[in-house]
Amino acid sequence: MSELHTLLTLPERPISENYYVSRLQHFLQSGIPATYTLEQVAAFERELRDKSEGKEREESSDDDKTSNTTPLHILARSLPLDISDDELQVVLKMMNILFEYGAGWNFIDFEDKTVGDLLLERNQDRESPLYRRLVEAGVSAELLLRRLNGGDIEFLDADKPDDIDPEEVIQVTSDGQKQGPVASHNDDEATATDQQVYLQTKLEYKDDALITKNNKDGVMMDWETKIMKIASKTLFPNPEATNSATVLNIGFGMGIIDTFIEAQKPYRHYICEAHPDVLAKMKEDGWYEKNNVIILEGRWQDTLNKLLDEGEVFFDGIYYDTFSEHYQDMLDLYDVIVGLIKPEGVFSFFNGLGADRPLCYDVYREIVEIDVANYGMKCDYTEYSLDKQLPDWNDVKQSYFNCNCYYHPRISFA
Ligand SMILES: C[S@@+](CC[C@H](N)C(=O)[O-])C[C@H]1O[C@@H](n2cnc3c(N)ncnc32)[C@H](O)[C@@H]1O
Repeated sequence: MSELHTLLTLPERPISENYYVSRLQHFLQSGIPATYTLEQVAAFERELRDKSEGKEREESSDDDKTSNTTPLHILARSLPLDISDDELQVVLKMMNILFEYGAGWNFIDFEDKTVGDLLLERNQDRESPLYRRLVEAGVSAELLLRRLNGGDIEFLDADKPDDIDPEEVIQVTSDGQKQGPVASHNDDEATATDQQVYLQTKLEYKDDALITKNNKDGVMMDWETKIMKIASKTLFPNPEATNSATVLNIGFGMGIIDTFIEAQKPYRHYICEAHPDVLAKMKEDGWYEKNNVIILEGRWQDTLNKLLDEGEVFFDGIYYDTFSEHYQDMLDLYDVIVGLIKPEGVFSFFNGLGADRPLCYDVYREIVEIDVANYGMKCDYTEYSLDKQLPDWNDVKQSYFNCNCYYHPRISFA
C-alpha cells in the first residue's frame, strides 16, 4: 500500500505513461483497493502496534472519524504546478484507472478538502480535463445511485467505502436546497431536513434573516438579495410587457423576491407558502390586500396540483425556493411545472444544490441539465460572483452556501 501511496505522490518527472500507468495497474490488480484511505491505514497500523504491545483495542480517535484521504486526494495534492500537457494526459489516465477500480469522487480529506478543491488549488480550473473528469465521475455516480435506489434520491452521502461504518463517514454535502448537511436523528434538530418537523417549528424574523427558533437554521438570509433580484427579472421572459405577465413564486420566506416581482407590476402574482408563521407575517405586511396577489396557502405539493387539475392558469415565470426539501422534491416539481408553464415560460430556482462544496455544486449543475432535458427543457446558467456577499454564518447553525460563484438557472422549453 505504501508503494502505491508513493507512486501517487508523482516522484518521477516527467510523468510518463510508461512509468506510472503500468505500475498503478499492477498495484490495483494485485488487490490494493482504490478506495483505501490514509486514515484506515493509520488505524490498521495502530491496531497492529497495540496487538504487538499486548494492549486492548481502543476505539479509534475522533481524528480518524472525520476524514477520508483517498488515493485520488494524494494524486491531486501532488500535481506539479508546472505540469505539461503530456503529463496531464498521463494523470488523466491514472484518474480513469482509479475510477475504474472504484475510487469515490466525493470524500473529504484530513484538511477538509475534496479532490476538486485540491485540483483547483493546483491550478486546474473548472474547465481542465482533470476537474471535468471528476465532475463526470460525480454525475455518473449520482445517477447510478438513483437508479440503484429505484428512483429514490440518496445523494452524495452514500458514496462510502464498503468497509467503513456509515456513522464514521464524513459527508461531502447534502443535496441541499437550504438544509443542514447532515440529517439529524434528533427530531428537535431535524427542521432543516424533515418538512413535517419544519412546518411545526416556530420561526423568528430577524433584521437580516428568517431562522428557526429552536436551533437557528437559516431559512432565508438577506445576503441572497442580489440573487433574488436577478431571478425576479428572469421570471418575466418578455420584459416589455411585465404588466401582462402571470408569475408564481413558491416559498415566501422574507418576501425578497416577491417584493422585486411586485415592483414589475405583474398582472397576476401567485405566492405559494406553507408555514403558518410566514403566512401570518404576510398578513401582517399586507400581502393579502394586494389586488394582483393570489396566495396559495399550503405546501406546493397540494396547492399546485389543484391548479393543474383546474387547468385555468398558466405562468410566464415560476420560481422555486423552499426550505427543508430535497432534490427528489424538485424532480417531483418538474412534473407539475411542465403542466403549468406557458410554452415560452421560464422556470428558475434558488440554486443551492450541493453548494456547500464547489465540486458538488458543479456536479449538481450538470444533473439539473440532464433532468430537465428529460422534459424537453434546457437549463442555461449565468454565473455571478458572490465574493463579498456571503455571510460569516455566525448566527445560523449550518452554512448552506460555500461557493464564491452563483450559478443562476434559467430553464425553458428547448
Ligand atoms: C428560503 S425561503 C424563501 C425565500 C424567498 N425566496 C425570499 O426571497 O425571501 C423558503 C420558504 O419556503 C416555504 N416552504 C417550505 N416548504 C414549502 C412547501 N412545500 N410549499 C410551499 N412553501 C414552502 C418556507 O416556509 C419558507 O417561507
